[in-house]
Amino acid sequence: MNAPLDAPLVQAENLVRHYRVRRGGRLFGEHATLRAVDGVSFALQAGRTLGLVGESGCGKTTTARLVLGLLTLTAGTIRVDGEILPGAGTARWRSLRQVMQMVFQDPLAALDRRVAVGRQVMEPLAIHGIANAGERRERALAILHSVGLQAHHFDRYPHELSGGQRQRVVLARALILSPRLLVCDEPISALDVSIQAQVVNLLLDLQAERGLAYLFISHDLRMVRQVSHEVAVMYLGRIVEQGDPDLLFAAPAHPYTQALVSAIPVATERGRKRLILKGDPPNPVSVPPGCAFHTRCPMAVARCRAETPALRLLDDGRRVACHLAPGMADA
Ligand SMILES: Nc1ncnc2c1ncn2[C@@H]1O[C@H](COP(=O)(O)OP(=O)(O)O)[C@@H](O)[C@H]1O
Ligand SMILES: [Mg+2]
Repeated sequence: MNAPLDAPLVQAENLVRHYRVRRGGRLFGEHATLRAVDGVSFALQAGRTLGLVGESGCGKTTTARLVLGLLTLTAGTIRVDGEILPGAGTARWRSLRQVMQMVFQDPLAALDRRVAVGRQVMEPLAIHGIANAGERRERALAILHSVGLQAHHFDRYPHELSGGQRQRVVLARALILSPRLLVCDEPISALDVSIQAQVVNLLLDLQAERGLAYLFISHDLRMVRQVSHEVAVMYLGRIVEQGDPDLLFAAPAHPYTQALVSAIPVATERGRKRLILKGDPPNPVSVPPGCAFHTRCPMAVARCRAETPALRLLDDGRRVACHLAPGMADA
């Protein structure tokens, strides 16, 4: 195959990000390795959404920042249109970064309180030396319109807008350079429930209009199911299950996915066993040997404590890292 032509928009291969930390948090304690992301691979095609879910601390934000080149990789590669993403700060990285923008959880933190929103939306154009002042203003007004804001919002300040309007400003700012990927890290978590659906619908409309790809991070599994073409479930820095959202949520194969799904407040199907997880995930400084989930898994057997399961393809097209998953050899 001709690699660049057929290449996905983003290909992540075996991403690893470790941190050196002090064990136990003591000032003069010995150093240890924290495995924030520990071998994550995925491919994201143009116009598609990959949902990333998992408990707090499992490595979702770290993965997002690695994809954009905002954090250096301990190991692994990111390819954009088949081209390896070069180091942050290089001219080529800056130009590839225009293709990939990030939307964070807290719009107020992402915006400058002292600057009118119109100017903030135009700013990426100015930074990249694109268009003259008049054209920048025109483009900013057009993009504000496309995210559902009006011309009179141009001169407002962030604190004069509602949370939902602020997130629209953040989206406008992310979109003004016509990116092809938006990395959305809990983009609706800080919003009122009544506003969340509006912003999600806006994201879906923008995807349909512009062919955007999303890496969509959320702990709201229902939202992830609604927006994603594919879902990856992370546990302690690794993907433990990945595949079609309907399959994955209707019939989760990994015990961890089963636990996440059975914790969804409503709409659990009748007759399904509820699987309630005990305790918090282990510390990523001392990831359990074998399957990292075995310490919380009600089904764990001796093999799970000894042997790390690889992500393997099931007949239905999803990938699962579990020795006991149905449809696997020698379970
Ligand atoms: N700069 C850092 N130094 C040390 N540990 C970090 C740093 N950033 C993140 N971590 C740790 O990496 C793990 C994954 O964090 P993160 O990617 O933010 O998780 P998530 O977004 O899924 O909640 C956590 O254990 C977190 O404490
Ligand atoms: Mg996070």
